[in-house]
Amino acid sequence: MGNVVMKHAVTTTGDCTIDHDATIQAKPYENIPGPKPIPILGNTWRLFPIIGQYQISDVAKLSQIFYDEYGKIVRLTGLIGRPDLLFVYDADEIEKIYRQEGPTPFRPSMPCLVHYKSVVRKDFFGTLPGVVGVHGEPWRKFRTKVQKPVLQPQTVKKYIAPIEMVTSDFIQRIREIKKEDGELPADFDNEIHKWALECIGRVALDVRLGCLSGNLTPDSEPQKIIDAAKFALRNVAVLELKAPYWRYVPTPLWSRYVRNMDYFIEICMKYIDAAMERLRTKKAINEFDLSLVERILAKETDPKMAYILALDLILVGIDTISMAVCSILYQLATRPEEQEKIYQELIEILPDPSVPLNTNHLDKAIYMKAFVREVFRVYSTVIGNGRTLQNDTTICGYRVPKGVQVVFPTVVTGNMEQYVTDAKTFKPMRWLKESSDESLHPFASLPYGHGARMCLGRRFADLEIQVLLAKLIRSYKLEYHHKPLKYKVTFMYAPDGELRFKVLQR
Ligand code: HEM
Repeated sequence: MGNVVMKHAVTTTGDCTIDHDATIQAKPYENIPGPKPIPILGNTWRLFPIIGQYQISDVAKLSQIFYDEYGKIVRLTGLIGRPDLLFVYDADEIEKIYRQEGPTPFRPSMPCLVHYKSVVRKDFFGTLPGVVGVHGEPWRKFRTKVQKPVLQPQTVKKYIAPIEMVTSDFIQRIREIKKEDGELPADFDNEIHKWALECIGRVALDVRLGCLSGNLTPDSEPQKIIDAAKFALRNVAVLELKAPYWRYVPTPLWSRYVRNMDYFIEICMKYIDAAMERLRTKKAINEFDLSLVERILAKETDPKMAYILALDLILVGIDTISMAVCSILYQLATRPEEQEKIYQELIEILPDPSVPLNTNHLDKAIYMKAFVREVFRVYSTVIGNGRTLQNDTTICGYRVPKGVQVVFPTVVTGNMEQYVTDAKTFKPMRWLKESSDESLHPFASLPYGHGARMCLGRRFADLEIQVLLAKLIRSYKLEYHHKPLKYKVTFMYAPDGELRFKVLQR
């Protein structure tokens, strides 16, 4: 591609040039700096686990290295079997790309799920296959139908009590499994995972799945659901990153993935059908008396919409939130002064810890929420977001062709001094209005993404995290007395190791 002359004005931010109305020369795409591919091997080897220069678990480090070596725009080309990746570290440009993305943004993700939905079970998913791994008009139609009920604050508010019940059971489970000295077992992350599963069951299926029960037999339904969720957590990354041979032949791991997905569909259908039966006999007429599932069912003649929404929420609403909670609890346990501030705030809000939580309590927990926001800035659970360009676009003064996958490495931009005052310091106060001298670029740290495709479950995610922290930190002190954990990317960015917290009753 040769040089392209465009009509634009010029604003310069750092080493990037933003185009407006005057004339600038967009530089050719090929001139964007980045690691050069090695002939034959391409650049894929760099990302290939173990043998490569960088391990998958180092992706967060890798995106920092790219920035340090090449600057605010970096092209990773020569990736075998996939389009180029373009890393953009300029928050103004990220803002511009998000704002230009049009009505059907394309987020490249989850190739296994795309194949399952569009090929293996095409018969089931049909023309409205959900939001995850779906693009263009089918995505827009589905998202438009579910957007309001899933994100409406009135609907979400109704889940404070149900999530509190799930969380009380989780805390009861903590009491049961902690040792005499208060230390939790090495696999405590499993329990967090079960809590997340139980929360999403309550929201997406209108049911208590029973995953937090202490004595589950291997063939009980909750245990099977836990196993299915665990299988997905452990193997989707393997299928997508380490062993993508299923694209050519159905490998044994792929066949297990398909059976696992079929099982999730079976569970969704079972509980949504039961909810539909209850709805038939329900007298409630006011829309707001209905649960999320019931609102969807009341509007649609075909329950498939509710099956598929439930499936999508379950597929992306377990690992994200459980990894986020692992990270938040680790930060709380290793930052006693911060934890104390949150505790003091909670005593004020909830002098009697046995009083049921309500919106008013959560609204007042401003420092607690600022703490969570700061954890997301410094250790963004989802390390970056991405878009496949649907039009040729000028980015940082380069003409980028459509089809390129642009990566926004939130975990890097959220920690850049240029966008966040005193970025290296962990400071929840920066998120509170009073500290107005802080500069915070609105597009530097976007834990839930942005725009029409932004996280559909963000209100539920926030609610679940807030209820958990309010209940746990109001009544327990959390400590950690082992060697510091490093953050790594498995699928999400979270502390890598045993979360052997000590919990002490306040
Ligand atoms: C702290 C936990 C979570 C984080 C950090 C997170 C983050 C994200 C991000 C970054 C995206 C991509 C947004 C974009 O493309 O702009 C996303 C999409 C999505 N998330 Fe979340 N998420 C979390 C929890 C949840 C939960 C609990 C649910 C379900 C209840 C959920 C449901 C979804 C869905 C359905 C999408 C796809 C939306 C679409 O493509 O239309 N997420 N999430």
